[in-house]
Amino acid sequence: MAVPFADLQLQYQNIKSEIDGAIANVIRDNAFIRGPYVDAFEREFASAVDAKHCISCANGTDALYLAMAALKVKPGDEVITTAHSWISTAAMITHAGATPVFCDTDGVTFTIDPEAIKAAITPRTVGIIPVHLYGQPADMDEIMAIANKHKLWVIEDCAQAHLARYKGQQVGTFGAVATYSFYPGKNLGAMGDAGAVVTGDAALAEHMTMLARHGGLVKHQHQIEGINSRLDGMQAAVLSAKLPHLAVWTKARQEAAKVYDAGLNQIEDVVVPEVAPDRTHVYHLYTIRHPRRDELVKHLNANGVQTAVNYPTALPFLAAYARFKHRPEQFPNACVDQKRIVSLPMFAEITRAQQDEVIELVRRF
Ligand SMILES: Cc1ncc(COP(=O)(O)O)c(C=O)c1O
Repeated sequence: MAVPFADLQLQYQNIKSEIDGAIANVIRDNAFIRGPYVDAFEREFASAVDAKHCISCANGTDALYLAMAALKVKPGDEVITTAHSWISTAAMITHAGATPVFCDTDGVTFTIDPEAIKAAITPRTVGIIPVHLYGQPADMDEIMAIANKHKLWVIEDCAQAHLARYKGQQVGTFGAVATYSFYPGKNLGAMGDAGAVVTGDAALAEHMTMLARHGGLVKHQHQIEGINSRLDGMQAAVLSAKLPHLAVWTKARQEAAKVYDAGLNQIEDVVVPEVAPDRTHVYHLYTIRHPRRDELVKHLNANGVQTAVNYPTALPFLAAYARFKHRPEQFPNACVDQKRIVSLPMFAEITRAQQDEVIELVRRF
């Protein structure tokens, strides 16, 4: 049996009339750029993630840029982030004018180690960007305590963590700003690129809105130099159609994770994802560790099971960061993980039979 890594076609078929209707409405109303569908989605998403303000933008990468630009990051500043993420998190630090300073992960949750943050702080540090990687929240109590003590801002990268909670509180509500991606494969995905920033701070919200819209709130009145990072009406309408399903889809991912946990955790050499106490994982990705990862991937792929490695190279060791001359001993956990991690098929509609197939193939390996 072939098991896809994700099945966006199936998701679409299940809610086809809602999606088709939403897109038809945008075309009927000529509401292609901004307009009522974008305004509605911003309101709905803010409410869904317990945020005061939501500003939509073109993608989750721009969201990080907008957040840092609004927080007035400048050349010479250092921003601390995790060694284990997608490159956008670090690249936008550079594009906003600052220097990324990488910290190792905690060895268990794939999220940034608060002890490593403490060791990385210098007089130039201005902020911290934790990433709630794979859908598990980072240790927000510790991170906020460090940030408050050193008067640093926090931007939460929630690209993989829609609706995840830390001690019952939604991610994205701890720091000054949080950023979201609605890339199609995300837990809430558009049918193209889309993203958003959320914040509780009205002044930051206004500044990010201006930055994303050519530097002004009113046409031809450019208060500052901005960029063009808009959510289009079709993506907003698609996202509004999907948003009411997100809680159910999240629950389905959590149930699927339980099935994997039970089936895989007795298998020698397999380390299933561990969820730290007080954290609610939303399983954007179900990522196991295995000492012979590459062989396991070959075996699964040869038998029709799609997998992914997120990510094969820890950020400090990408060619883009060769200038920093990082050493493996600075990031022992991220270095070991980059060779051991593999993500298994995970999506809300995955069937028990598909999961049994994956589990059985891992067991046979
Ligand atoms: C952790 C993380 N940050 C940022 C991004 C960037 O989002 P986008 O692809 O929408 O630009 C992604 C998604 O790809 C991500 O996974």
